[in-house]
Amino acid sequence: MTQKTEHIYQAPLQGFTDFTYRNAFHEVYGGISKYFIPYLSYGKGKEIKKSLFKEILPENNKALPVIPQVLFSDATELFELVSILIDNGYKEINLNLGCPYPMVTNKGRGAAWLEKPALLNETLGELFAKGFPSKFSVKMRAGMTNDQDAQAVFAVLNQFPLEEIIFHPRTAKQMYTGKADPSLFVEALPQVKHPLVYNGDLFSVSYLQELKALLPNQHNWMTGRGLLIDPSLALRLNGIEVDEKMRKQKKKEFHDQLFEQYSERLQGSGHLLARMNQFWTYFSESFENPHKAMKLVKKSSSVLKYNAAVVEIFRSF
Ligand SMILES: Cc1cc2nc3c(=O)[nH]c(=O)nc-3n(C[C@H](O)[C@H](O)[C@H](O)COP(=O)(O)O)c2cc1C
Repeated sequence: MTQKTEHIYQAPLQGFTDFTYRNAFHEVYGGISKYFIPYLSYGKGKEIKKSLFKEILPENNKALPVIPQVLFSDATELFELVSILIDNGYKEINLNLGCPYPMVTNKGRGAAWLEKPALLNETLGELFAKGFPSKFSVKMRAGMTNDQDAQAVFAVLNQFPLEEIIFHPRTAKQMYTGKADPSLFVEALPQVKHPLVYNGDLFSVSYLQELKALLPNQHNWMTGRGLLIDPSLALRLNGIEVDEKMRKQKKKEFHDQLFEQYSERLQGSGHLLARMNQFWTYFSESFENPHKAMKLVKKSSSVLKYNAAVVEIFRSF
């Protein structure tokens, strides 16, 4: 086993990396330095959805190195959400300046901040003036529609004592299409005085090697969808060999643990099957025939049929 040299962070993925997922992941695989909790934010009428609130409860994250995240449209929302997290014992909080969905950015949240550097400066000034007993980090994209937006934002972020900046070099407009552009990250390095974490399209060991050729001193990486597809990725990125047989065994163990825990947590087979369907949208891509695997899962109309489908997938695909 080689020495662990890379720090791998699990990206927050709303609807996927919930606390059940994170706990099962940690038990079966591990290899993650920080698990980022999908964002906490206000819904309609200043309500926080129960499901989002459960994510941050300490009892749901007992053995995990977790970092919670807030998605906010103004200073008031930011301070309130931060206070909730501090009341729940968190000592480091991530600020979401990257969520690209129009439903979010139209409310001035997420990536919308990338076009408001002056307001961001004012808001962060107030945040740090309050002296909250917490560290703060940022997760951001390169811009809303222009991948040069980040430059003015970096100049603002340099004014504050941030823990680190996770940089996903795509614009919000790109959503998840095209490729994250590592050259934007290379350009960012001399502009940013905080440690930078690379995020975007890290799906394989060979891509890590390509990135390392460009970024030889980079050791902090965040990966999201790559881990959803094959959770052994974090171990492999650190040079730990996981052969085909072992990968399959681990995947089955992980699946079974998730299934068991969701069965205990969710009410009714409809919810359970919907949740497992969601899980398989990425997980199926680690099988030789993702399309067939997904088709079998989708057409399982009962838990009995689902269990038979899973046996078939692990045996044949
Ligand atoms: C379904 C989905 C949900 C996401 N939820 C969040 C979120 O709650 N907070 C956040 O900062 N980013 C969120 N992201 C973005 C990811 O954290 C990550 O930045 C992005 O997927 C790029 O990394 P990857 O290429 O390794 O997946 C989400 C992405 C997806 C696809």
